Amino acid sequence: MKKSNILVTGGLGFIGSHTVVELIEDGYIPVIVDNLNNSELSVLTGIEKITKIKPIFYNLNILNTNILEEIIIQHQIDCVIHFAAHKAVGESVENPLEYYYNNVSGLISLLKAMEKCNVKKIIFSSSCTVYGQASQLPVTENNPILKAESPYGNTKKICEEILTDVAKTGKLKVVSLRYFNPAGAHKSAFIGELPKGIPNNLIPFITQTAAGIRHSLTIFGDDYNTLDGTCIRDYIHVTDLAKAHVKSINFINSNESEIEVFNIGTGKGSTVLEIVKAFEKENSIKLNYKIGNRRSGDIEKIWADCKKANTLLNWKAQLTIENIVKDAWKWQNQLI
Ligand code: UD1
Repeated sequence: MKKSNILVTGGLGFIGSHTVVELIEDGYIPVIVDNLNNSELSVLTGIEKITKIKPIFYNLNILNTNILEEIIIQHQIDCVIHFAAHKAVGESVENPLEYYYNNVSGLISLLKAMEKCNVKKIIFSSSCTVYGQASQLPVTENNPILKAESPYGNTKKICEEILTDVAKTGKLKVVSLRYFNPAGAHKSAFIGELPKGIPNNLIPFITQTAAGIRHSLTIFGDDYNTLDGTCIRDYIHVTDLAKAHVKSINFINSNESEIEVFNIGTGKGSTVLEIVKAFEKENSIKLNYKIGNRRSGDIEKIWADCKKANTLLNWKAQLTIENIVKDAWKWQNQLI
């Protein structure tokens, strides 16, 4: 049976492109809208190499509500997966207005287009950043939402609130996925992360250091209250994360709830040093690193309780940090 057409905003980005691959492999027809603000057109070729299908693509800013409506109607869109947003924490502190405009107004524009065209299902990219430093670990979806540390984090919180209010009208069904730390790359190394400039995130910084693009990795603090003193995060392979979106479509199609929120992680925390050691071991590389000061705004530790996603989405992460560091390195190597 032919499956439905799915609008994927930000479908050429890191998580978006991996999700497009999983959608195609599951028989869906993705329609990508992306303004190439933080992505490259060459990603389309990577997707095609993996799936043998060139997805439909529009170079468009989602703030353009009218053209979005035309695309939705032309392709008889059934459900939207919404990735298109800015995501750099530091940049959001420097330019909050741009973040609120792009992320919050972008969602509103998309929701208006959906309402006009009678599209009633959306899967939203949220983040574990909404929990801040949780007092109870692992965090469940019922943990309190704390005051956001950055304008970026606040946009995720505000967008979840907007979606909750719209869902209450009965006109929209929402699945909000709170990602933990997405990392790795497609195992084929045809698609992966393309950080612009100096990476903020740990794994791309590690791979760029190993490749000689960066001189050394600085581990931000080793005096935290953890086993080896470095921060703990729940690193999830981007392919596992992508699959959670496909499962969310099944859920949203077969479930009556107006809005459901899911943690998407592995349930296992790793310290920064554990990631560094795993990278060295799996790839037989010695990494140049040093211990530096704590990074302001970092939380000490967080990892997910994923029971809700395991049960209701019928989804569970399959890949490990070993897969993450191997695939990330394979991807980095073909970039040079
Ligand atoms: C950040 C964002 C989060 C976002 C995620 C993925 C915050 C508070 N959260 O998470 O909202 O979803 O990125 O884009 O910013 N580290 C080093 N050296 C480095 C880089 C990182 O030691 O050069 C450490 C950090 O201190 C942290 C861990 O590695 O303990 C992970 O950092 P990072 O990849 O930046 O992700 P988060 O800060 O957890």
